Amino acid sequence: MLTRMRRGWELPEAAATPESVFRDRRRLLKAAAAGPVLLAAPAALLGCDSEEEIAIANAPDPTAHLYPVPRNERYAIDRAITAEEEATTYNNYYEFGSAKNIHKRARKLPIRPWTVTIGGMVEKEIQIGIDELIAKMPLEERLYRLRCVEAWAMAVPWSGFPMRALVDMARPLSGAKYVVMASFQNMKVAIGQREAWYPWPYIEGLTMAEATNELAFLATGIYGKPLPKQNGAPLRLAAPWKYGFKSAKGIVAFEFTDMRPITFWQRLQAQEYGFWANVNPAVPHPRWSQATERVLGTGERVPTQIFNGYGAFVAELYRGLESERLFV
Ligand code: MTE
Repeated sequence: MLTRMRRGWELPEAAATPESVFRDRRRLLKAAAAGPVLLAAPAALLGCDSEEEIAIANAPDPTAHLYPVPRNERYAIDRAITAEEEATTYNNYYEFGSAKNIHKRARKLPIRPWTVTIGGMVEKEIQIGIDELIAKMPLEERLYRLRCVEAWAMAVPWSGFPMRALVDMARPLSGAKYVVMASFQNMKVAIGQREAWYPWPYIEGLTMAEATNELAFLATGIYGKPLPKQNGAPLRLAAPWKYGFKSAKGIVAFEFTDMRPITFWQRLQAQEYGFWANVNPAVPHPRWSQATERVLGTGERVPTQIFNGYGAFVAELYRGLESERLFV
């Protein structure tokens, strides 16, 4: 049985949030709630797998035939690709709990139908099924490094499309300054979402300049196959110059806005997890150093690089913003 524990950092939402941002979040909540809903199976509540859950877990991915996609060699990496087994069994996905081994639980998430809402400051709101969205987008493979704020790191071949392509499709209004992403809500299978002290849904955001930077990538696949659910299927962000928590998984809504969002982790612990969260070895987390990172699989410790080694692509985005907390 789950008991509700209050945490020291827990704040009533209204106390932490200006009203307009709060209202913005409500809109996103509505969009996120429109995402897929699993019909409750009594067996699921007892902790065993119902036939329906087994069918969901084993459902073939309708996009499987699209992979592998051609690799874009512009995005080379300087280290070995992490073993698939490691990258797909050591995950952060708080919707399914705070442990790293959530991959089996995540399989119960139904990911079809899956509607993506693109709204806010756009010419016209779009609601599009994931398969139609993927069919419209230019798919390619990129090798990217991922650096988690917890100081572990991996290097993986993502398949997907530049976020810029989605922004172009969205036709944002000229006043839009940020793209906010919201992850799915489905308390029936995402047991972490039953823990009400977390401010669900998972919200993340990028500035328009970041979202249209060539590195911002929306991943639909990994290792030449559709994304497994634990890695964020059917749609997740890969923003490799930022700490991993910026790369929201299981995205159901993109909202263009002129207000900087308060993100999931910021709402929980703003001193530790800021909006920008760019990787910087010289700026420690309040509770640990960020100078080195542990390579997933080998356990080797290697020096962390500024912007996770992607400074040539993104450093100029932050010129003139030095007064901001760019690295926490
Ligand atoms: N997205 C959602 N919706 N929920 C999460 O808990 N965790 C983040 C990010 N995206 C998270 C999320 C964190 S902390 C990291 S490090 C990466 O996902 C991990 O991605 P991976 O499990 O595919 O390595």
